[in-house]
Amino acid sequence: MMKKLFLNQKQLFFLGLMLMICFQTVKSQKFAGLADTPPMGWNSWNKFACDIDENIIKGIADVMVETGLRDAGYIYLNIDDCWHGERDSQGFIQADPVKFPSGIKALADYVHSKGLKLGIYSDAGKKTCGGRPGSFGHEYQDAMQYAKWGIDYLKYDWCETQNINPQGAYNLMRDAIRAAGRPILFSMCEWGQSKPWEWAANTGHLWRTTGDITAQFDGIARFPGWQALGVLQILDMQEGLRKYAGPGHWNDPDMLEVGNGLTDNQNRAHFTMWCMIAAPLILGNDLREMTQETKDIILNKEVIGVNQDKLGIQGFKYLAKDSLDFWFKPLENDEWAFCILNRSKTQTIDYTVKWSDLNLYDDVAKKYLFFDLHEFSIRNLWTKKDEGTTKSSKAVSIPPQDVALYRLKPVLQKK
Ligand code: GLA
Repeated sequence: MMKKLFLNQKQLFFLGLMLMICFQTVKSQKFAGLADTPPMGWNSWNKFACDIDENIIKGIADVMVETGLRDAGYIYLNIDDCWHGERDSQGFIQADPVKFPSGIKALADYVHSKGLKLGIYSDAGKKTCGGRPGSFGHEYQDAMQYAKWGIDYLKYDWCETQNINPQGAYNLMRDAIRAAGRPILFSMCEWGQSKPWEWAANTGHLWRTTGDITAQFDGIARFPGWQALGVLQILDMQEGLRKYAGPGHWNDPDMLEVGNGLTDNQNRAHFTMWCMIAAPLILGNDLREMTQETKDIILNKEVIGVNQDKLGIQGFKYLAKDSLDFWFKPLENDEWAFCILNRSKTQTIDYTVKWSDLNLYDDVAKKYLFFDLHEFSIRNLWTKKDEGTTKSSKAVSIPPQDVALYRLKPVLQKK
């Protein structure tokens, strides 16, 4: 016999409360599944700064397809600062009518037609770092506008924020994106000032850990009131942060400077280290005029594979010896990436790796790497050659400011 279900007033109240809590929980969550591995793409800032327009962006989209970058995984095409015009009479932001005469929606359609995704930039303050209108006080309107235009990625900067609380500001924009309903990857750019790695796993898909990068391998560029950091300076600042990163929430040591004037060795080392630390791979060079060497670096699928490994575990420096740093990154199927970075500006270093000196326990991944117990095959990811196994020691020669990068695979023992 069916029994009718009547709820009394108290039960109805609790049911309502439960529904409200569920709704609120869904509302205050970033979109899941958008960054299970570190995001890959291109951004206009490092090369073009404010000097952008729709033709540059379209040209970059074309080249991302023609060169195979899209198919190698670089799917986000991100416009950085200075695309903005004014807000309209209702407060909705518009694109700069001179630089983007066709509008952002038309650009998004073009980019999507190429199988790519479009990213845009805003700022939690009243103005962006380039002095354009920020999102402060317009968060929900801006998120709605981006969703309407078909935006897929938002980089959200931290200029002109005075006394704003970062957690509040970034959660507010996350909620605005969620409410607008279009899955948009949320890239937080507050330069690591409030230690976002400690609180932002449910806020953004990535958070900057430092100030801006500059196209120097080892050095600092000083400007009045601020400074930009070289590759090694940023790399060293990642120490201690790896335990906070993982699928869906990444440390962001800033965008790549590969192809922006570094030497080929430095380009290779920069790209390799960003792969070892599971950094977002956001290219920053003019893709329309790259050298073959730059192409070979950013399109090396085996090296990209280290970055995009499904475990999403950030690598770590295990040992520093003279100018050499020895890095490991746990990969799927009990494999490891192993990298030696030569920091010296002038010296090529010859070194013999005795594997048993590198036995280790990784307390973040909770994994042992015991060369005494297990043999690994060695694949050189830059020369793309197999180079024996870890049964015997290995002689390497590493040019200044360059790397050797290997993939180590367990050799199956015969019974
Ligand atoms: C800040 C960011 C940069 C870039 C500029 C744009 O400096 O950290 O990555 O977006 O603003 O003005």
